[in-house]
Amino acid sequence: MDSSVKNVTVFQYLIIILFIAGGVYLALRDFQMQSIGEKHTTPVMQQSVTKNGPITPIPLQIKLDERKVALGYRLYHDKRLSHDNSISCASCHDLQKGGTDQARYSTGVENALGGINSPTTFNSGFHFVQFWDGRAGDLVEQAPGPVHNPIEMGSNWEEVLSKLSKDTQYIEAFSGIYAEGMNPDTIVDAIAVFELSLFTPNSRFDKFLRGDTTALSKEEQEGYRIFKEYGCVSCHQGVNMGGNMYQTIGVMEDFFQHRPLTDADLGRYNVTKEDYNRHQFKVPTLRNIAITFPYLHDGSAKTLEDVLAIMWNSQLGRSLTKDETIKIILFLQTLTGEYQGKPLAE
Ligand code: HEC
Ligand code: HEC
Repeated sequence: MDSSVKNVTVFQYLIIILFIAGGVYLALRDFQMQSIGEKHTTPVMQQSVTKNGPITPIPLQIKLDERKVALGYRLYHDKRLSHDNSISCASCHDLQKGGTDQARYSTGVENALGGINSPTTFNSGFHFVQFWDGRAGDLVEQAPGPVHNPIEMGSNWEEVLSKLSKDTQYIEAFSGIYAEGMNPDTIVDAIAVFELSLFTPNSRFDKFLRGDTTALSKEEQEGYRIFKEYGCVSCHQGVNMGGNMYQTIGVMEDFFQHRPLTDADLGRYNVTKEDYNRHQFKVPTLRNIAITFPYLHDGSAKTLEDVLAIMWNSQLGRSLTKDETIKIILFLQTLTGEYQGKPLAE
């Protein structure tokens, strides 16, 4: 009798200890998430995704440290970040070309040709992960990638720092903002904060979402209805109309049946080596889609008509009438927003 009472108390003690341990774990985990949130600026933006429906308008304002934005702008356009001083981030993510290079594949240092289409940097802060295969968690993790990539900028931090530290304007700007001055972390931070400033509110569609029913024509509204009704919105959703999940290309039909596979085609599989991730990609944003051609991870679709045929057959397994195609395209063309108060395209 005695010993069983004792056992119960031991058991109760164990439960209490487990509770305390659980509490400590949760507190620590929250703490860690907060500190990551502070350091890596992107999660702040992700909060605005999908609260009020499948698609939410891009915020009209995002509060950022303007000194970092200005410094990041310079770095983003600075060719000294590449080995032979020939390529900047803007070479492949040109703000005049919808944040892309409008080429099937990008050309890096010494004319090296990449094997995957360059996505837009506009609104990239809203994505839940970066790159087509999600191999970078956020913009801070993403930025060192191209600097080191031999077919992009082909450089390294030592080389970049030795060049940039000869520039007294940089030295002054960095030490004015960061106690530690210029180093790889602060370079990346400034670039990432600049990228957060690349949000494009006020598209006609966003005005419509905010209640201005005259912002879209009848056909464009029809296109939006078809977009929702036929299930595009099940993948292209959230504030960025994409960028918040992985999906397989070729859900209904083998997208790759007509050509040999490339490494890039394996998508998320390259990161996880899990079979179910084969051909999975982060669903791309549809924001500013009219000007970010060519389309798809392999840049194989030149026009929105081409993509639609593929989305239709590969992703939805049904076909679209000519009239429906026209209406969806008219709708997609209303997604072009404004950067710094000016339309990205007329
Ligand atoms: C030579 C062309 C090239 C250069 C230079 C380049 N990029 Fe990229 N960028 C790409 C390509 C191609 C991808 C897609 C790669 C992938 O997903 O595997 C990409 C992906 C990205 C993404 C992810 C976007 C998304 O939707 O997932 C961001 C952000 C980005 N680049 C920012 C930068 C920054 C910042 C720089 C400069 C430090 C830079 N890029 C330099 C070609 C380039
Ligand atoms: C099952 C999920 C899914 C559905 C449904 C879907 N898409 Fe997609 N969409 C994707 C994925 C994944 C990609 C990228 C595929 C790739 O690059 O290989 C993509 C790419 C696109 C692109 C090209 C974006 C770019 O920048 O390259 C457009 C445009 C597009 N979809 C529009 C639509 C429309 C319109 C519909 C409805 C008719 C639709 N999608 C339905 C998942 C989906």
